[in-house]
Amino acid sequence: MTGHITFTMIKPDAFSAGNSGAIIKMIEGAGFRIQAMKKTKLSKEVAGKFYEIHKERPFYQDLCEYMSSGPIIAMVLTKELAVDSFRELIGATDPAQAAPGTIRQLFATSIEANAIHGSDSDENAQIEAGFFFSELERY
Ligand code: CMP
Repeated sequence: MTGHITFTMIKPDAFSAGNSGAIIKMIEGAGFRIQAMKKTKLSKEVAGKFYEIHKERPFYQDLCEYMSSGPIIAMVLTKELAVDSFRELIGATDPAQAAPGTIRQLFATSIEANAIHGSDSDENAQIEAGFFFSELERY
């Protein structure tokens, strides 16, 4: 169903600060259901592939270093209009611009170490979910 899934990662800063539980509680409290979930640690190469779309951006190398600096939790989430609803829950990329009560406003420390990722389109949600999970792991 179009608009039914989104993909997220709890990033190394939020995981290492012990905020994963509080973040997952907010996600479930907002009506998302967890379709797939795993804790893992990205290599710099895998982080580079995941964020390949940003390859030409000046922050790309730093982003790959940061995303491979510690464990993350990857999840596929389901809800109606999941992508837009989740982006509202997490707030703006830059926590200084994030609305009060959003995950990034509460837990992010910088524009790079911004606590959580959320897919930016239905198409990317499918691609990103497939990057981390097989069909069999999603039920
Ligand atoms: P995310 O939503 O995961 O998608 C791309 C990531 O790049 C973003 O969150 C931030 O972690 C990072 N990012 C985006 N813009 C900047 C920036 N201007 N400087 C540093 N990192 C950035």
